Amino acid sequence: MAEHDPKIVAFLCTWCSYAGADLAGTGRNQYPPNIRVIRVPCSGRINPLYIIKALLEGADGVMVSGCHPGDCHYLVGNYYARRRFTVLKKLLTTTGIDPDRVHFTWVSASEGVRFADVIKEITGKVKNSVSNQQKQPINLSNSDKRQKNKFNNHELFLSQEKELIKLCKNLLDDNIVNTIIGYRNNDETWFNSPYIIRTSEEADKLVWNNKCIPALSGYLHERIGKTAIVAKPCDARAVVNLIRENQLNRDDVYIIGMLCDGMADEKGYIVPGCADCQIHVPPVYDIFIDKPQSEDNNFCESRQPDDINDSETLSNNSTNNENPKYQSNNDFSFERFKQEIDKCILCYSCRQACYGCYCNTCFMERGETDWQTSSPGIGAKMLYHLGRVMHLAGRCVECGSCENACASGVDVRYLIKEVTGFIEETYDYQAGMDFETEAAMLSYKPDDPEIGFLGGDQYE
Ligand code: FES
Repeated sequence: MAEHDPKIVAFLCTWCSYAGADLAGTGRNQYPPNIRVIRVPCSGRINPLYIIKALLEGADGVMVSGCHPGDCHYLVGNYYARRRFTVLKKLLTTTGIDPDRVHFTWVSASEGVRFADVIKEITGKVKNSVSNQQKQPINLSNSDKRQKNKFNNHELFLSQEKELIKLCKNLLDDNIVNTIIGYRNNDETWFNSPYIIRTSEEADKLVWNNKCIPALSGYLHERIGKTAIVAKPCDARAVVNLIRENQLNRDDVYIIGMLCDGMADEKGYIVPGCADCQIHVPPVYDIFIDKPQSEDNNFCESRQPDDINDSETLSNNSTNNENPKYQSNNDFSFERFKQEIDKCILCYSCRQACYGCYCNTCFMERGETDWQTSSPGIGAKMLYHLGRVMHLAGRCVECGSCENACASGVDVRYLIKEVTGFIEETYDYQAGMDFETEAAMLSYKPDDPEIGFLGGDQYE
């Protein structure tokens, strides 16, 4: 059988790498004819979706090359691009797509010889990758390893609920807020429904227990006047992000922080988003509803942020401290990715449930480019899910709403979980923890690691 001749899409910055390619030509430095060049103004202009789309449309490989760090004609475009590419390649690795199919590097206008060498090296790697892929064994293991969430301290929930109702009545009666978003019991479903109240009489129906699953932060959009939100730690983090992304004013939100040790589904399993959560106290709040600190149950008003010890959580102090965690399936094969994505029917419930998707019309549906096809083929689904993960990279607050909302049982969160963990480890950043730290994907350091780059460090 004839050797497959790979097609490699090459995004080249016009100022350096494209000029470097020209120089290779004029200098007669030969390289394999496998690349198809797309000239771009700067490596910072490359949306990760271009790379994903190229792979899904049949490219065997993709390369991006720009000016060397520090030499970008727009000063810092390639610094931002470096983080984006590092995270994208981590994501592709998690999906089981061979990392040798995607390459990032720097070539300057004076490096014609280097350009030719880079193309030779990349073409060799892509060729190997294509032939290995044909031999790759199929791994279909995807067992459900969830365990019961045994945490269900009724007495504590009741005392917190009582305190919450008292507080909400005061907030409304004293005109501190004019609306409160919390939870109410819903006889039609096993979990509590979002509940928006405007009078203190309505506050009596507020509930707090481990069935308060829907994320409430999305209901803060387009609120008029000051609104209080009953905030689990993930909701509080989402509020912080929304404020930082100029979607809310801090002065218009009153955060009622709730001590939280995870929510349970109808069968008592801990829900996906809560299974690995280590954050039990909201990082930001206006008032915190804690566990009782003394026998007279006086526990709400006296607790201020500085009094809270990170390690002091419901689990640590609960009489029932067994809270088995969801075991992540560490199968990062392409078959697993395909199997998960194939279950998706492109209903976009995950997008609707996510606090971070607040555009009126998603860019994928604006008709600007052929981003989304009308038929729900596997490629369209992959593009949607990979695009969504990149969109949420460094913004996900790990609430699990996407997975909770999915009626088809797609484990959509395993990708974003890996990317979120990678960002935390590499850039020391967790979304929504404070108002000061610069968002990982909107900042850079000149000495950021070049993980996954040609000749750079590799992923662990
Ligand atoms: Fe070349 Fe920015 S101009 S990478």
